[in-house]
Amino acid sequence: MVELLPSILSADFARLADEIAAAERGGGTVIHVDVMDGHFVPNITLGPPVVASIRKHTKLPLDCHLMIENPDEFIPAFADAGADWVSVHYEVCRHLHRTLQLIAQHGMKPAVVLNPATRVELIRDILPMVHHVLVMSVNPGFGGQKFIEFSLDKIRRLVELRQELGLAFRIEVDGGVAHDTVERVVQAGAELLVAGNAVFGAGQPEEAARALLAAARKAAGE
Ligand code: DX5
Ligand code: ZN
Repeated sequence: MVELLPSILSADFARLADEIAAAERGGGTVIHVDVMDGHFVPNITLGPPVVASIRKHTKLPLDCHLMIENPDEFIPAFADAGADWVSVHYEVCRHLHRTLQLIAQHGMKPAVVLNPATRVELIRDILPMVHHVLVMSVNPGFGGQKFIEFSLDKIRRLVELRQELGLAFRIEVDGGVAHDTVERVVQAGAELLVAGNAVFGAGQPEEAARALLAAARKAAGE
């Protein structure tokens, strides 16, 4: 079943609780939280204190997308803050297996993220460990960027691998998911749809979320 994950990166950070509540009324079922450190990506956003504040204002699962170096150092703090899902980038994890174990040991759902240039085959051996794989369909760092078309091939490849290996991980896509791309993304096999600009960009998150989710469900035949 497709789910919409509003990304608060494009929300008004001074009104975060209201923005999240509106996106939830519009059908968002998981809140996507972009954590950036100014090193791995050329932008800085937020960390565990903000996650802890968000945790007090919504019951929805919090999907923390860590775009940071040395994620192992911060996993306990995200667990304490109330994160539910934690994804780490393949590109920064020298010991990815250990990092995924650490996330699970802290009671959170582990996931791995692939930058546009990172091949799906590289994570084959750790797929049994992950709750989901996040396919970046833009280069991470900013909202509102153009969707990279070959991400669709990566989603299709993950669907094949999941079948071949008899696994049940979910497939998430992040970046440029909007009205002009959502149908293709869903038809390729993604089911966790992150959307920042398309939900919060025009100041009507409830309506925008509802319309995007309706388009996604239609494309999925739900
Ligand atoms: C980008 C972030 C995304 C971002 C997506 O680095 O990981 O979650 O919010 O933004 P849109 O949906 O605007 O492309
Ligand atoms: Zn993200």
